[in-house]
Amino acid sequence: MKLTRRDEEMLEGRHGLANRRAMEGLVTLGRAYDAADMVDIGYAHIHAGMAMYKDDVELMEELADAGATVAVPSSANIANADTVNWRQTGAPEPLARLQQRAAGAHRRMGSACSFTCTPYWAGHWPTWNMHMVSIESTVTIFCNSVLGARSNRDGFFAVYAAMVGRYPRFGYHLDEQRLGTHLVRVETAPESISDFSALGFHVGAQVGGGVAVFAGFSRRPSLDELDALGAALGTSGGVSMFIVPGVTPPYGSVEQCFANGRPSQAIVADQAGIRATYDHFTDPGAAFDLVHVGCPHASFEEIKDYARLLEGRRVKDGVELWVTTSRSVRNMAAEAGLVAILERAGAKVISDTCPMSCHFARTASPDPALGVKPPELRGIVVDSAKQAKYVRDMIRCPTLLTSTERAIETAVSGRFVPRFP
Ligand code: F3S
Repeated sequence: MKLTRRDEEMLEGRHGLANRRAMEGLVTLGRAYDAADMVDIGYAHIHAGMAMYKDDVELMEELADAGATVAVPSSANIANADTVNWRQTGAPEPLARLQQRAAGAHRRMGSACSFTCTPYWAGHWPTWNMHMVSIESTVTIFCNSVLGARSNRDGFFAVYAAMVGRYPRFGYHLDEQRLGTHLVRVETAPESISDFSALGFHVGAQVGGGVAVFAGFSRRPSLDELDALGAALGTSGGVSMFIVPGVTPPYGSVEQCFANGRPSQAIVADQAGIRATYDHFTDPGAAFDLVHVGCPHASFEEIKDYARLLEGRRVKDGVELWVTTSRSVRNMAAEAGLVAILERAGAKVISDTCPMSCHFARTASPDPALGVKPPELRGIVVDSAKQAKYVRDMIRCPTLLTSTERAIETAVSGRFVPRFP
């Protein structure tokens, strides 16, 4: 792999031991993928340091102790607890304190303690052709597909890339990877953000690791709808990028999206596909204790919508309603009086985490000293196919998937309101 003089200096340790370790890791990664050289990155969305795994936090502290700093604007991914109001989710205090230690390491390294899976709503907005890294698939997909930035689905190497501002040129950093593999003929009009999520889950299962090109939306999808679509595509499949011609830079037509102007495979996305996702994630007759909205972490616009739906109403006794979002968006919403409306209605507005990322996960093996005991839940009502999948897989409890509006109706009435009656 071709390296610059500065890359070589980093490998020689002339820019500190932490950067040498980072560059060694990136060179190993690049060689594994036959990268020809490295690119300069302009943004990094990095590992939070997950408190459920103490070693994770200690690794971030070790880097900060070694003098590591981020060389490019960097945001931190979702965490295992709300680092400020952890009591409202019932998180054990030792877990929250450990998560706060990770925040301390991020501050020392200079990365924003955003603790979110939607850093773009918190102001991190990479632009067309900017190389970047991301540990979160939802961020990778949104940045590739909506903003036209260039990102792979990265692991811990994202932290190393953030430290040295470099990354091996492979995968979605290459033009040839950013071409369509499947044409998706949209023969339905998704009605809500949740419908886009259901559609994405249905299509992602068929596209696998390819690039889906959507043709036939009756209108331009909103940013929140595109976010939900991408998150779900990346959940049922290994999708890292989708294309909506006219939305995804630089594609203006379907023909431009394919190597020879034509797709090799075509898929139909219709109402039956959307319905199949709702049916798949709705356990008939399941009881529930929790209603969740805000997956991916809610934008300011979504919070406005929740407040509109809840103003002057009350969540039913015995039901919890969780709204999850980034701390930045929560702060904006608080200033706008929206958090007060939600809290008056009995909702909990939670930052830094989500049901599947918090101490509810049964598949995690945290240090016993953290006192983590997942609660017994009869079921969770969700408005996102991604959250539904992870609630099933990680929390191991029944799910009921419906639209956002109906999820909130469910929380108020105490009776599940399905998307399709
Ligand atoms: Fe984010 Fe949790 Fe959903 S990490 S994308 S809110 S499953």
